[in-house]
Amino acid sequence: MGPLLARGLSQDFVPLKSRCIKGLADWILTSPCQRNIIVLAGAGASTAAGIPDFRSPGTGLYDNLQKYNLPTPESIFSLDYFRKAPDAFYELARDLWPGVQGYRPTLTHRFISTLDRKGRLLRCFTQNIDGLERLAGVPSERVVAAHGSFDTATCVRNGKSVPAEELRQAVLSGKEGPGGWQSLREKYGGLVKPDIVFFGENLPASFFKHRTLDFCKCQLLLVIGTSLSVYPFADLPREPPGSCIKVLMNREDISEFGFDISLLGDCDEHVQELVTRLGWQEVLKEMADSKTSASGD
Ligand code: OAD
Repeated sequence: MGPLLARGLSQDFVPLKSRCIKGLADWILTSPCQRNIIVLAGAGASTAAGIPDFRSPGTGLYDNLQKYNLPTPESIFSLDYFRKAPDAFYELARDLWPGVQGYRPTLTHRFISTLDRKGRLLRCFTQNIDGLERLAGVPSERVVAAHGSFDTATCVRNGKSVPAEELRQAVLSGKEGPGGWQSLREKYGGLVKPDIVFFGENLPASFFKHRTLDFCKCQLLLVIGTSLSVYPFADLPREPPGSCIKVLMNREDISEFGFDISLLGDCDEHVQELVTRLGWQEVLKEMADSKTSASGD
């Protein structure tokens, strides 16, 4: 643990005693109770909710788009391709639109929300567009939706804002007919797209603002369920000061990013052990209660 101490910068810096979940729990319990934890989340945080990630072989979204006959799987989120052939994205958007399929937050989302309630979460930077962090109770101002969200929508031809609910109705209605996306296109003078970030588009201003403001205060970085293959998000683990403890919870080992603790396997399993060691049983209870109410018992 020498290097972590040697690199320690601030007076209230607490070193990691051991590179395992117990060490992580001890650190969270003993470090000063201030907002000094940043979470970087990816699609793996939501697979337990039933939402596929992007790149897991076989199950990932990019391995299951054959029916759209795309030039490359990523074309489904490409602005150029959307302008030429919007049908594929609109069809997929029916499944992706938050609330339509009734996806529920996972244990990992509830843990992030608990970090906030305990005054420990500085920010959750998420690449996900499923809105499950907020559904789990993380306040909007603590979430940076780095790849945008379905909360707002814009006409890609003229930049006009379009009420997201109008687009949602159109997407759910399909292509043709009075409420469909073709009629929305005519109404607004061009194709309308939710403000999720496509390849070729800029990330929201909040990403750059919080990247500048937050990382200098970060003492613990939790990277959960991401392959870190899309930039500039994948650069974020390099942002915190050298004293910051970096923890990975992921099925896939991406140790080239230099983590102090790598917890490989399902994030919910590691979170379950972590909250048990933290004595935060309420997270598990909340999860159990939500399963009971979802099953209608
Ligand atoms: P990926 O699919 O690239 O990576 C998900 C990672 O989560 C993989 O390393 C999986 O092994 C891991 N994983 C899956 N389920 C898990 C679980 N239950 N517990 C722990 N780990 C699990 O998804 P992202 O990294 O989020 O961007 O993808 C980043 C961006 O690529 C997305 O935001 C999207 C996509 O193109 C845009 O569309 C702009």
